[in-house]
Amino acid sequence: MQNSKRKLEEDDENENGSGLKLLRSLTHKDHSKRLIVVLANASLETVKVAKSFELLNCDKHKSTLKKNNRDPGSCRPDITHQCLLMLMDSPLNRAGLLQVYIETAKNVLIEINPQTRIPRTFDRFCGLMVQLLHKLSIRGADAPVKLLKVIKGPVSNHFPAGCQRIGTSYSVSDIVDVREMVPPDKPIVFVVGAMAHGAIKETYTEKTVSISSYPLSAALTCTKLCSAFEEKWGIL
Ligand SMILES: C[S@@+](CC[C@H](N)C(=O)[O-])C[C@H]1O[C@@H](n2cnc3c(N)ncnc32)[C@H](O)[C@@H]1O
Repeated sequence: MQNSKRKLEEDDENENGSGLKLLRSLTHKDHSKRLIVVLANASLETVKVAKSFELLNCDKHKSTLKKNNRDPGSCRPDITHQCLLMLMDSPLNRAGLLQVYIETAKNVLIEINPQTRIPRTFDRFCGLMVQLLHKLSIRGADAPVKLLKVIKGPVSNHFPAGCQRIGTSYSVSDIVDVREMVPPDKPIVFVVGAMAHGAIKETYTEKTVSISSYPLSAALTCTKLCSAFEEKWGIL
């Protein structure tokens, strides 16, 4: 476990233009246990306002959305922000046992370095995402490590070979206790929809489960997943 975290850090430290290749080979070959979360259908899209770009959001860009006949419910970057805060702050992530990817509704795939500290305020998060979508990567302030980067899809190419891939939804009859799905020593993928409505339509999942009898927010789904893995893997 600690080995895999060290390896991630080492690979990023060694980055010299072929960094993407190093990290990809790590994710392919590394079969050590970890939870891989894919935040699917995330609404992260930039919009030009006057001379600068902003992250499209249903509260701030009402008239733009109306003009373009867009459903305001499909422009909720706050959902991704809340999910990332929960995931990256989790003891599971601190222990080096979590890997997070974001797939946007516009098919941009983002890899999050486990060491990334997500901005606490929504405005700063929006600024960071605009920078990422335009520059394709964000480095740490005092290290050359890439903390966020746009990578080539599909996301399934980045999963360790043979690992289980589970979708999540309130709208399925199969309600499971996540703790019973935690493998003792293997990686596993869970896909969470980072959107307000509708179901995820990923083709790479083997099955879809509900983890509660109640409709949850995406952020609470992420928290419940992390808590179950922490409990089973003994992370306090
Ligand atoms: C606001 S919900 C979207 C609602 C969607 N109609 C559904 O069926 O889940 C956002 C995400 O939270 C997760 N979610 C919500 N309730 C859940 C539940 N009871 N079990 C598992 N995942 C849930 C799913 O990943 C879903 O895509």
